[in-house]
Amino acid sequence: MQSVPEQIVIIGAGGSIGGALVDHYATQPGVKRIFAFSREGKPFSSDLVQSFKLDYYDEAAMADAAAHLDEVGGVDLMVVTTGVLHTEDIMPEKALHDLTAHKFETLFRIDTIVPALITKHFIGHLRPDSESVFAILSARVGSISDNNLGGWYAYRCAKAALNMFIKNTSIELARKHKHQCIVGIHPGTVDSPLSKPFQAHLDPKKIFSPALAAQYVQKVISDTKPEDSGKIYAWDGKEISP
Ligand SMILES: NC(=O)c1ccc[n+]([C@@H]2O[C@H](COP(=O)([O-])OP(=O)(O)OC[C@H]3O[C@@H](n4cnc5c(N)ncnc54)[C@H](OP(=O)(O)O)[C@@H]3O)[C@@H](O)[C@H]2O)c1
Repeated sequence: MQSVPEQIVIIGAGGSIGGALVDHYATQPGVKRIFAFSREGKPFSSDLVQSFKLDYYDEAAMADAAAHLDEVGGVDLMVVTTGVLHTEDIMPEKALHDLTAHKFETLFRIDTIVPALITKHFIGHLRPDSESVFAILSARVGSISDNNLGGWYAYRCAKAALNMFIKNTSIELARKHKHQCIVGIHPGTVDSPLSKPFQAHLDPKKIFSPALAAQYVQKVISDTKPEDSGKIYAWDGKEISP
């Protein structure tokens, strides 16, 4: 982005990285307003932040929520930070025999369909006349060429599909608004409920706090140019191949 985003939308603000991004941007000079959407309408202490409830499974509610932005006059940055790896009744598959339709349907619903529908309803509110960015948190494990370990079938496939959605949307966006850009970002391994069950064998130095991850995500976003649209970047700014 050429300049500091003045008006920002974060969808998924109730999560660890989403909440840290709201807190982080609220301290950045030049930021004027942050619209924080989450299922519970999580409140934030900064006066710059307005919190809203959003039901990610209700398209009419998404359309209504996005319509509120009509009066705002253009958003510079939107970040979608929703996503799950496990739920109360789902743990990632270690092998093919763990795979079920329920796991696939649930993770595709949450990790692919929800961000796709959010994009459908919100992206039209990005500022069209200057560089603006729509970022979605993805994951390195969604890369097909980078897959050396296997496992985690539903999550990997749902994030790979999300990456295709990001590429597809970038093509449509480029035809309509040359200044706008959509990218996916892998935030690194971040200390959150999502990664908690898988942290035991990891080097603690390689697990970022949500606050540090938010700084890295902001750096990737601020370095993003319109010609980067459709790509997936890691927390360190390196592109992840599909
Ligand atoms: N943590 C990591 O190590 C890591 C690594 C790679 C990629 N990521 C990606 O980063 C993103 C955020 O992860 P996080 O670590 O911040 O996780 P988190 O703290 O567990 O937050 C989960 C997020 O997903 C949303 N969510 C939870 N259950 C949902 C459901 N049933 N349907 C729809 N949305 C639901 C939450 O929405 P509310 O905001 O409404 O509460 C929240 O925004 C995810 O896309 C994840 O795949 C994380």
